[in-house]
Amino acid sequence: MIISAGTDYRAAAKRILPPFLFHYIDGGAYAEHTLRRNVEDLAQIALKQRVLNDMSDLTLHTTLFKETLSMPVALGPVGLCGMYARRGEVQAAKAAAAKGIPFTLSTVSVCPIEEVAPAISRPMWFQLYVLKDRGFMRNALERAKAAGCSTLVFTVDMPTPGARYRDAHSGMSGPNAALRRYAQAVLHPQWAWDVGLNGRPHDLGNISAYLGKPTGLEDYIGWLAKNFDPSISWSDLEWIREFWDGPMIIKGILDPDDARDAVRFGADGIIVSNHGGRQLDGVLSTARALPAIADAVKGEIAILADSGIRNGLDVVRMIALGADTVLLGRAYLYALATAGQAGVENLLTLIEKEMRVAMTLTGMKSIADISRNALVENGLG
Ligand code: FNR
Repeated sequence: MIISAGTDYRAAAKRILPPFLFHYIDGGAYAEHTLRRNVEDLAQIALKQRVLNDMSDLTLHTTLFKETLSMPVALGPVGLCGMYARRGEVQAAKAAAAKGIPFTLSTVSVCPIEEVAPAISRPMWFQLYVLKDRGFMRNALERAKAAGCSTLVFTVDMPTPGARYRDAHSGMSGPNAALRRYAQAVLHPQWAWDVGLNGRPHDLGNISAYLGKPTGLEDYIGWLAKNFDPSISWSDLEWIREFWDGPMIIKGILDPDDARDAVRFGADGIIVSNHGGRQLDGVLSTARALPAIADAVKGEIAILADSGIRNGLDVVRMIALGADTVLLGRAYLYALATAGQAGVENLLTLIEKEMRVAMTLTGMKSIADISRNALVENGLG
């Protein structure tokens, strides 16, 4: 039975998914210190209990870029959702829309933009990587605009892929491709059809649409590996404005000086993120990086944050440290793998309830009320 947002879905996903997929989701870079600290630092932050404040009119609603959110949470961009559940991106997007929050489609989704955007009743967000193939980037931006996406999430912390050793051990990457094929075809014959195994071509959504031919997992990994662009700098980003006139959020900020550069660049928001500990192991947890960034740019630009959020208390902690809205990664993937759309909806219901308890007992009646006053001292004693 699922009774906790934080742990039960992870345990269930571990039972259900083939190991190479579970570890792809669950793992991080190198020795996974940052991955662990993201979760542990948040869990350690002490909330300040306050009582007898008449909390009967508490509200979780918030607005971001003129969109109303039922709570300050969005589903963040994660690759390959269609491998964790059938047409997984569509299922997750529907769950987010049903609960009144945004869904972000990753560049490397199984279902393409044109399939996911029309399946939901609110505008989708779209995430783009910096890739050498600028033609792909332009094409993706034009397609996202044509599909009515409202917000661009531009991920800048992957100029080169992180060293993810769990993926090599599990057969997700590296020379153990035979293990991967075995796991995919034997454990998931139904999805194997979808994702181009058993010799069938498939549709790795956005990339197939651009290349004009079906791309399987092997093609995708090869294409992506060639396409990360380590030469990227702020001045290279100007041209994106020609192709995207809506809100643009820079994802992967961990330093106050970079946050200030994002303001100078004219971004509408930043996502304080270490990519869930999947890129540079050893960097600060988001919870530790966020306060200084909030001190540097709060009020000038929307501050979003992710990495390590596993429950509603963590959402309140991130808001108290300076975020306006947070994004979920693994937390929703575990639920998606376990029970599809219903699992993600249930997870969001649990998170909402946990937020209500945390806000009621810290005396914070609205999202705008939540400040460092909700925490004991600086919270990270
Ligand atoms: C990611 N993340 C990610 N980010 C992005 O900008 N584009 C992407 O395609 C992906 N893909 C991806 C796949 C998987 C399996 C994971 C777990 C993560 C990073 C993601 O958006 C987010 O920053 C982290 O997941 C946040 O950390 P937590 O909450 O998962 O700990």
